[in-house]
Amino acid sequence: MPDAPVVVAVDGPAASGKGTLARRLAEHLGFAYLDTGLLYRAVARRVIDGEGDPADGAAAARAARALEPGDLAGEGLREETVTQAASAVAADPGVRAALLDFQRAFAAAPPGGAPGAVLDGRDIGTAVCPDAAVKLFLDASPEVRAGRRVRELRERGSNAIYAAVLRDMETRDARDRGRAVAPLAPAEDAFVIDTSTMNADEVFREALAHFDARTTSRK
Ligand code: CDP
Repeated sequence: MPDAPVVVAVDGPAASGKGTLARRLAEHLGFAYLDTGLLYRAVARRVIDGEGDPADGAAAARAARALEPGDLAGEGLREETVTQAASAVAADPGVRAALLDFQRAFAAAPPGGAPGAVLDGRDIGTAVCPDAAVKLFLDASPEVRAGRRVRELRERGSNAIYAAVLRDMETRDARDRGRAVAPLAPAEDAFVIDTSTMNADEVFREALAHFDARTTSRK
């Protein structure tokens, strides 16, 4: 039997640097990468396009069950309306249950026969893959994260305003941390990295050192 895939969970709040780190780790290790936030964004997009209310749990759960792989490449998934709606649909237990199988199947059998998978999100280490070999939790102060998100949005051509981005991010953080099912929180055995004063290279090096320590000690 081939070895079971090595699963790396990267969790954290908005703009903590988890996407950048997860992509880079996956590339470095030759692992498959899944941005699980896109799943919630695609569900939100479906609800909005059907003129439904993202806070209506039944409608959101129906949209989650109807999700197709092509939806993940949909347009406008990073728009602010979709971002806020993603966090609303993500609070519904039916939505989370509907997306669980897809995420677990990805981790158990990474596409392309890759020897491992990196999943980034909010609940990978706590709920989706509680047995992940490596769990990282990235955090940073709200001000630093809002500053990063403003830069990202401006690079994409939007004239984002810092105060509005900070406010929207804090609303979303509170909803993500406060929901009853799979709230945003570090797993007990997660390695927490505060990225407030670190650049992407420093975060990558620290995460890789932790990955090496964890995976070597398991052999
Ligand atoms: O990139 P950013 O961190 O701003 O957002 P994202 O990772 O694309 O996630 C968008 C929203 O989806 C979050 O605010 C969460 O409410 C939800 N989400 C979740 O509940 N669980 C996950 N594993 C991933 C995202």
